Amino acid sequence: EESISVQDLAHQLGKKATEVIKKLMVLGYMATINQELDIETVMIIAEEFGATVEVKTSKEDELFAEIEESPENLQNRPPVVTIMGHVDHGKTSLLDKIREANVTATEAGGITQHIGAYQVESNGQKITFLDTPGHEAFTAMRARGAEVTDIAILVVAADDGVMPQTVEAIHHAKAAEVPIIIAINKMDKPDSNADRIKQELTEYNLISEEWGGDTIMVPVSALTGDGIGTLLEMILLVSEVQELKANPDRNARGIVIEAELDKGRGPVATLLVQSGTMKIGDFLVVGTTQGRIRAMLDYKGRNIKTAGPSAPVEILGLSDVPSAGDDFIVADNEKLAKQVAERRQNERHHKEITSRNKISLDDIFARI
Ligand code: GTP
Ligand code: MG
Repeated sequence: EESISVQDLAHQLGKKATEVIKKLMVLGYMATINQELDIETVMIIAEEFGATVEVKTSKEDELFAEIEESPENLQNRPPVVTIMGHVDHGKTSLLDKIREANVTATEAGGITQHIGAYQVESNGQKITFLDTPGHEAFTAMRARGAEVTDIAILVVAADDGVMPQTVEAIHHAKAAEVPIIIAINKMDKPDSNADRIKQELTEYNLISEEWGGDTIMVPVSALTGDGIGTLLEMILLVSEVQELKANPDRNARGIVIEAELDKGRGPVATLLVQSGTMKIGDFLVVGTTQGRIRAMLDYKGRNIKTAGPSAPVEILGLSDVPSAGDDFIVADNEKLAKQVAERRQNERHHKEITSRNKISLDDIFARI
């Protein structure tokens, strides 16, 4: 049972339906006697009447249950990398150069990046880059409990050094327990000094390998492309140590990278698949919304039919626009997807109401 009508709930509580309806009104809900109430509402109402509710596991709970994957089902997945750093230190230039270096001759000039993430290949291995500007998006996602990044590239301009946002980025990456690779950028500039950067970073316990520490620091130039090959190699090296794995043979789960309402196409969301494989036609819950995947595009804007672990994809077919950092999960059928989305909407509604009405509710009960 995922829901219960007002009438049945009243019966179970040994109350009149009108009493339950009155309580619901106080909580900001207009309900009829036959209205189905979700579990959260039932729990709140029951509590109001001094009763407790025992919840049995449902299809929904099963959907969200953490799956203990047996090792034989796990396969290596590409690392997901975020680039952080102080303003103007070259984050965008570096992302552009990395992408450029991976564009084949036939594509050159013909490809413009489509979504806020892309993949490159180095030595036949893929790397996913999130194009989120700086650490703001990173922080926003973490605040929502979304851990998407496997490796943080911290860009420090060799002609400028460690700056406030560099320090902030270090703190964020450390709090998230994400390994940091330092890209000492702008090495082409005559006044660049990599040793000075290494020196400054020791203050934050980031000691370069040459100096006996364990932080990888790669001198690069986003202008000339020097050092970028080494940087990609180092990313793969770190990811190998991390043993990043996922089971591709199950319903996809992951995180929303960005989303917007497109005039012609409706809600459009960029998703990062974290495990499983997503397919055209899948039903999914995304945050508090849901839908069925009508079309799926890769970062080059090409139509694709499936997307596996660590792949960034743009999807069409959601009924509403989700938020960056929302989770998504593929459900076996439409009914379940809709049910979960509806329940989550109710939950959010409750949270809004209880925070908004906190004082007035207390006042009401004080007067009773
Ligand atoms: P914000 O997004 O504003 O935080 O900046 P950003 O970190 O993305 O820096 P961006 O890539 O926009 O680069 C800032 C400036 O530095 C631009 O004028 C770039 O052309 C220049 N720049 C970036 N990388 C290099 C480099 O390796 N060498 C040189 N000489 N200039 C660079
Ligand atoms: Mg930028």
